[in-house]
Amino acid sequence: MKKWVCKICGYEHTGDTPPDVCPICGVGPENFMLLTEVNTLKTDVVPGKQWKCTVCDYIHDGDDPPEVCPICGVGPDKFVLITNLAGALTEKTVAAADEGMYRAALEKISYGLYIVTSKDENKINGQCANTVFQISNQPSIIAVGINKRNLTHEYVMKNGVLAISILRENDIAAVRNFGFSSGRERNKFEAGGFIIGREGCPILKECVAYLEARIIPEKTVDVGTHSLFIAEVTSGGLVEDAECLTYALYQKLKSGKK
Ligand SMILES: Cc1cc2nc3c(=O)[nH]c(=O)nc-3n(C[C@H](O)[C@H](O)[C@H](O)COP(=O)(O)O)c2cc1C
Repeated sequence: MKKWVCKICGYEHTGDTPPDVCPICGVGPENFMLLTEVNTLKTDVVPGKQWKCTVCDYIHDGDDPPEVCPICGVGPDKFVLITNLAGALTEKTVAAADEGMYRAALEKISYGLYIVTSKDENKINGQCANTVFQISNQPSIIAVGINKRNLTHEYVMKNGVLAISILRENDIAAVRNFGFSSGRERNKFEAGGFIIGREGCPILKECVAYLEARIIPEKTVDVGTHSLFIAEVTSGGLVEDAECLTYALYQKLKSGKK
């Protein structure tokens, strides 16, 4: 059986031919590449460094990342070090830690997955985000990290409100709809399935819970590529008693490992 990988989102498909439509990001079979046997055999941990292509999940063994990814053709800057197999933690391994190693550690931080929405006059938009977390309880303050290039960023910055839909455990479809294209290119709410909340932002009907919040402008932090929005929760509620989607689970569902 052959394995195919989506060049856009890294989804892995097993079969004689690539799928007609990628179930994660929706692109066609022309965006799939055959994952070589070499790569699929590299599931066992081996001594040395391992590098993962962040575009197609190809694994490369060696001291340095490859010049060109043999699967999707990107350069070494798209590779992250995923394994420090120096063995047990020692002062020597700590002293030798390089950027690749701390990047591998960063990949181990746990997150949930959310749809962050906002509005601008009579327009609405939303995006997928993992960087949403509560900071304090009284008052209820949350932080949301949004890339400045995103349309959602523009709306939140201008209008100072947002809503967060907390996704159901199996809601890959929402990630696909909100996480891979911009509201500048398409209306992500075309299919419906939302209501407008008290702050005027859309909330997905199919969510485990939702929050509405107002940005505290003087506390929002400019972090270069992103803004870290600090917001006070003004409303919210539980919609159903169900498990929520996490970033780790999404990665597994995406690669067909769950
Ligand atoms: C799993 C996943 C997690 C994401 N997390 C974030 C995030 O925390 N912050 C962010 O700015 N973008 C994140 N994104 C990317 C945005 O969802 C994406 O760039 C989106 O197309 C922006 O849409 P917009 O331009 O309509 O706002 C994530 C995407 C995915 C698939």
